[in-house]
Amino acid sequence: MSGEKIVSSEEVGRPLDRVDGVLKVTGRASYAPETPVANAARALIATSAVSAGRLADIDTREAEQAPGVLAVLTHKNAPKLKGADSHSQGDRVLQVLQDDSIVYNDQPIAVVVADTLEHAQHALELVRPRYEPRAINVVMEQEKSAPVKPEKTARGPTDTDHGDFDAGWGSAAVRVDATYTTPTENHNPMEPHGTVAVWQGPDHVTVYDSTQGVFNVRKRLAKLFDLPPENVRVISLFIGGGFGCKGSPWSHVALAVMAAKVVGRPVRLTVTRHQMFSLVGHRPITRQRLMLGADHHGKLLAVRHDVESATSRFDEFVEPSASQTRMLYACANIRTSHRLRRLDIPTPTFMRAPGESSGTFALESAMDELAYAAGVDPLGLRLRNHADHDPDSGHPFSSKSLRQCYQAGADKFGWARRKPGVGSMRDGRLLVGWGMATATYPAGQSEAKASVRVRADGTAVVQTGSQDIGTGTYTILAQVAADALGLPVDRVRVEIGDTKLPEAPLSAGSRTASSVSPAVKGAADQARAAVIALAVGDRRSPLYGLSVDQITVAGGELRGKSGAGHRETYAAVLGRAQRDEVVGQYDSREKPDRKDYAIHSFGAQFAEVTVDPDLGQVRVRRFVGAFATGKVLNAKTGRSQLMGGIVWGIGMALLERTERDARSGRVVTRDLADYHVPVNLDVPPIEIIMIDEADAHVNDVGAKGMGEIGNTGSHAAIANAVYHATGRRIRDLPITPDKLLL
Ligand code: MOS
Repeated sequence: MSGEKIVSSEEVGRPLDRVDGVLKVTGRASYAPETPVANAARALIATSAVSAGRLADIDTREAEQAPGVLAVLTHKNAPKLKGADSHSQGDRVLQVLQDDSIVYNDQPIAVVVADTLEHAQHALELVRPRYEPRAINVVMEQEKSAPVKPEKTARGPTDTDHGDFDAGWGSAAVRVDATYTTPTENHNPMEPHGTVAVWQGPDHVTVYDSTQGVFNVRKRLAKLFDLPPENVRVISLFIGGGFGCKGSPWSHVALAVMAAKVVGRPVRLTVTRHQMFSLVGHRPITRQRLMLGADHHGKLLAVRHDVESATSRFDEFVEPSASQTRMLYACANIRTSHRLRRLDIPTPTFMRAPGESSGTFALESAMDELAYAAGVDPLGLRLRNHADHDPDSGHPFSSKSLRQCYQAGADKFGWARRKPGVGSMRDGRLLVGWGMATATYPAGQSEAKASVRVRADGTAVVQTGSQDIGTGTYTILAQVAADALGLPVDRVRVEIGDTKLPEAPLSAGSRTASSVSPAVKGAADQARAAVIALAVGDRRSPLYGLSVDQITVAGGELRGKSGAGHRETYAAVLGRAQRDEVVGQYDSREKPDRKDYAIHSFGAQFAEVTVDPDLGQVRVRRFVGAFATGKVLNAKTGRSQLMGGIVWGIGMALLERTERDARSGRVVTRDLADYHVPVNLDVPPIEIIMIDEADAHVNDVGAKGMGEIGNTGSHAAIANAVYHATGRRIRDLPITPDKLLL
């Protein structure tokens, strides 16, 4: 696809290496928990061994006497926090050490502060809690309390009902009615969470935190510690992966700030890998019933998707797994619902492609079942039900290249050579299966502010309080600014991850490219215009008297369009004007015409698996994903995002499952030996096709975001391939060998 160039592309789109890559591979990138801070004490969290009840007592005398210990905080001596009256999602978990109640397993019950890590570890062993546990249930099928209807979901209403599902279902010639389940999964970024808190006097604090949202952490801490937000500075320069768990501050952030206040020293608090499974959220269990009714040709007549997901007893998180079912396929009769089951578990949270990830597993598995039931090729079924406009809102799509994704993916994969029969493809003794699924994720946009400073030395500095969670924010922002200024990218420096910078949104929901790059482009446009104005208004400039629209910028120069001689560098303009810098600022809001369009990314996922008929072992042998996500800002970092989503899809399909002991409620798979994620040999060659789209509605840069869509549908493509290989429809993730053995 070619189209109007929204950003004049010299750097944008190029597979530029990460501009922060050298810092990272040489160990010079400073991650928040390791920030060098003088005199920092070490803190560790003691957590509850029971899932619900109260602390009858907690004896800290021995711990307090241990070598190097500076403080042991429990509910008996911890400072009181503000904001306990709030009912915002996640605020309950921030109310740490405020009373003796225990509402989830591994809840913080004490924090130990010592001069060294070893002393803190030793003292932690000496904290002696005594519990009064109460009965618990962590199993969704056994929950006696009624399902809860949440007020709304992060993707709009709790329930939707278009047309007449019952009539459509009644008239259907082919029907699928199946229930799919997905397990608890835990985020495991390579870098666990960690925080360094430094108080500068009684009412100013600086917090180095591994977070996807410095401004969100600032807001929540300000409320909790009753400080004006401007007295709280949050810094997060490099982040070793986020995936949603770092989207909001959790208990450890509050504890680090509290502990630093009490001991009067900076405090460094790290969350252990074990604690990653309880302190920082998880993807909840879902149980999803899909009903698809179609005519003899597989044309959908009725679609129904009812979702139940787990949440905690004390807080609410809705996994919006039916959201894509509202918009992905054309059908007049679509009904969806979301309900919650309260269990004695920690509160779930956003985890990569929250909703669409678990939701596309169910929907795309059901579509595959329908294809077999109707005797239609799975890809042909999707084409037959292609939605030309959004069935939910009725709006046209701002851009949609799903057909091109299907085509390009199928061509690259060789889908036409697929033998339709179950078990019909073999390689020696191995069963071979080919499966496919559709991928989709909404392309949102949030308000973002940025400054761009053109400096007298001919370089530029981009400033915005966004974050790079490993996705490539530093790199794409440098590319966007370079093009807007006509500067080589190596003369652009990007500063992000600090609440001192202009406010930018959470790096979540695949929104950073689509929200922050328009702000940076706007600010760079302003800066460029200001420098041009200086030049054309200055008699000493070779550009004097030219009109602004006669000037182009390239190679660090302003150039008159008409001919030779009319050119000079940014440095020359600023030097003559005796300016250190020229600053452009921009506040990027949602484009107003967004409300008239449905704005989504789309893709097509194709998997080949082999199944060992004796061992039930599934291997993904190759994978092709084709995606249309608007303007691709960097072909290399974009490809990595999409590929990462597919690798995660392999994990979800075959490996990942957090096991909770039903009696104690404790997670038993609490490290990367027991919680399985795909490693090198689990990951086959993955081919990524990126279909560049021109979309003038999504935002001023045209990027829709690439962080999450790769995860959607990828697990379903694998599950569908397993069915094609074996005739076994596994509706319960992950597809472990035991489920395939007869
Ligand atoms: Mo993502 S789950 O929006 O960090």
